[in-house]
Amino acid sequence: MTPFGLYVHVPFCAARCGYCDFNTYTAAELPGGGDRAAFAATALQELDRAAATLGAAARPAATVFFGGGTPTLLPPEDLVAILAGIRQRFGLEDGAEVTTEANPESVDARALARLRAGGFTRVSIGMQHAAPHVLSVLDRVHTPGRAAAAVSEARAAGFEHVSLDLIYGTPGERPDDWALTLDTALAAGPDHVSAYGLEVEPSTALAARVRRGELPLPDSDAMADRQAEADAALSDGGLAWYEVANHAATPEARCRHNLGYWRSHDWWGIGPGAHSHLAGERWWNVKHPSAYARRLAAGQSPAAGSEVLDPVARRFERIMLEVRLAEGLDLALLSPAGRRAAERLEHDGALELSGGRAMLTLHGRLTADAVARDLTD
Ligand SMILES: C[S@@+](CC[C@H](N)C(=O)[O-])C[C@H]1O[C@@H](n2cnc3c(N)ncnc32)[C@H](O)[C@@H]1O
Ligand code: SF4
Repeated sequence: MTPFGLYVHVPFCAARCGYCDFNTYTAAELPGGGDRAAFAATALQELDRAAATLGAAARPAATVFFGGGTPTLLPPEDLVAILAGIRQRFGLEDGAEVTTEANPESVDARALARLRAGGFTRVSIGMQHAAPHVLSVLDRVHTPGRAAAAVSEARAAGFEHVSLDLIYGTPGERPDDWALTLDTALAAGPDHVSAYGLEVEPSTALAARVRRGELPLPDSDAMADRQAEADAALSDGGLAWYEVANHAATPEARCRHNLGYWRSHDWWGIGPGAHSHLAGERWWNVKHPSAYARRLAAGQSPAAGSEVLDPVARRFERIMLEVRLAEGLDLALLSPAGRRAAERLEHDGALELSGGRAMLTLHGRLTADAVARDLTD
């Protein structure tokens, strides 16, 4: 049976980082400061609806992922209560992976110990960078050393799986700033690192600063250099790539929840703006926390829209996602034109074809978007 995951979107942040366009709100952006205290009860209402909707098809979750926003802005007891509600309504598989994202400054040893005792097995910490001037352009409020300290606290609390998120390509980042960040991240001892190139999202404060000419953007060659450095430093440090932006120390350290997205498995997304996917049907919730809470209080579904992917769209999506995985793409998914493109890409050194699968080489990982486009044309 297809593995089932639950995602819980916690849409609150202490401050909005200038580069971020996630569905998240500061207290000042929500009427009356936003009812954070009521969030757990509202999420439990949606879980009730989810369990009732699935009925006999409800099954234990293999993975649970609390993302945001900043889930750890809520008291650990609230996150544990939502997890207990999931366990009660769906059950958790033996050895289930239960992750929360955390901002470095929003957790401490006590909160991490409570999360671990409440059943969380994995924590993913948004370190982003080690250079103070880069953290400042990103509007991050933590000191450079705080993320590494949080990794130690998570280890001391008994978390076997600890991940760090990093961002490269911020305006003003020098090559040695990125080398320092990779060294600092590895020295902290996580068993998983995600390294993302900075995306300048159109509606953000960062994009406005770039448009005004206040901040220069790195060119695509510099971005590829940073990505290649990350790939080499992380694998030399014992974290092998398993998805273009994701590296893990062992197969058990890979994020099984995210692998579920990339392999088009099933998941139910709880919370404002959360997306869900079950057997080819997708839907998404209303984005605003107040509208979300109002709908549930009135006994209505929080879904704002849905779509059923036709076979062509499903195949297209699978190619786009699966080619980015180290396990590679099943060549049977490709059209005759896609197969010819795969052979060309192998000749150009971007793909390795073997055992009926297509795997990205290092050159392919640095041009993964273009490779995926070529395969789907
Ligand atoms: C949903 S965010 C939440 C994490 C957490 N609130 C934090 O900021 O530490 C997850 C990750 O997405 C990445 N991210 C967010 N916006 C990005 C952007 N514009 N470009 C690249 N990565 C981004 C960051 O690395 C971040 O840690
Ligand atoms: S990057 Fe994280 S902390 Fe910053 S606004 Fe986005 S979700 Fe919130």
